Amino acid sequence: MIQDPYEAIKELGAAPLWKYYGNLFPAEPKSEAVPYVWRYRDLRPYMLHFSEVLSLHEAERRVLMLVNPGLTEPPATVNSLYAGIQIILPGETAQAHRHSASAFRFIIEGEGAYTTVNGERVDMHPGDLLLTPGWHWHDHSHEGNGPMMWLDGLDYPLVNKLEAGFFELLGVRMQEQTVPANSSTKKFIHGRLLPLWESPAGPHSPIGNYPWSETEKALAGISDEAEGSAVEGIVLEYTNPWTGGPVMPTMSCRVSRLKPGFHGLPFKHTASTIYHVVKGQGETVVDGVKLDWAEHDTFCVPGWAQYAHVNRSASEDAILFSYSDEPVMKALGLYRHI
Ligand SMILES: [Fe+2]
Repeated sequence: MIQDPYEAIKELGAAPLWKYYGNLFPAEPKSEAVPYVWRYRDLRPYMLHFSEVLSLHEAERRVLMLVNPGLTEPPATVNSLYAGIQIILPGETAQAHRHSASAFRFIIEGEGAYTTVNGERVDMHPGDLLLTPGWHWHDHSHEGNGPMMWLDGLDYPLVNKLEAGFFELLGVRMQEQTVPANSSTKKFIHGRLLPLWESPAGPHSPIGNYPWSETEKALAGISDEAEGSAVEGIVLEYTNPWTGGPVMPTMSCRVSRLKPGFHGLPFKHTASTIYHVVKGQGETVVDGVKLDWAEHDTFCVPGWAQYAHVNRSASEDAILFSYSDEPVMKALGLYRHI
């Protein structure tokens, strides 16, 4: 045999499995994402800077992506999910588009902006969770004073890996409003009382906005003596009222209250998670890396990384909003934890 058989099979589009075994079937997952914290107080001045020098006619959306140092090309925040911080100024409109990736906004600061989702105006207030499920038209407008900023969460890293990404412009900047403002929230937010003449329009929650006023009430309704989770504290899941399950098929959204002095037990699971600090300060140790966090910071816990949260304050609660790909892991039979 004159030609190297390995070279010969390569030319034939084949490869020796025995040389790849360790990489293709690792003993356990090792994420390319690294533990990281994005500090709001450091990023905020740049948000304001770009809002002055870049119009929304030049940028489809004015967003700083929170790029994991281990996932720069294509940029992502954890393996399957993305986070970014978006800013919109009074009088501006971010034009209508839709994509097969699902999105949500968690409002950080400002008043007077709204998004229109499939013809419904949905108003934004700090702490609100607004959904834009996949392939829903959405445009954002601001009628208030001062800048409005929010955290964008999307599943595009997963959608693009699955080669299922589609995108379309509506062609006009703003959608027509075809249903009463905030109607989906008014109709469905009570959860246990469902409008029976309606039926699910897809695998996502019908609620346009989970207002902070309701989230706060739910957290306050739970007694200080409640045991909660030893890992996540008093943790609540935002649910789809039709199913009781996650708000969207690819992302599970939660809010948790870490009582003063909370020291969480270490935990690891196959889901990748992004946390956003609503209130308070503390630290999360992820695979030995200490992430210090304060109000409005965002940090990530890659899949199968061990983590433990600490609320450093002896007198104040810490409140964390989080989202993860846990529904995907569970649907595919890949969810594991220890
Ligand atoms: Fe979008």
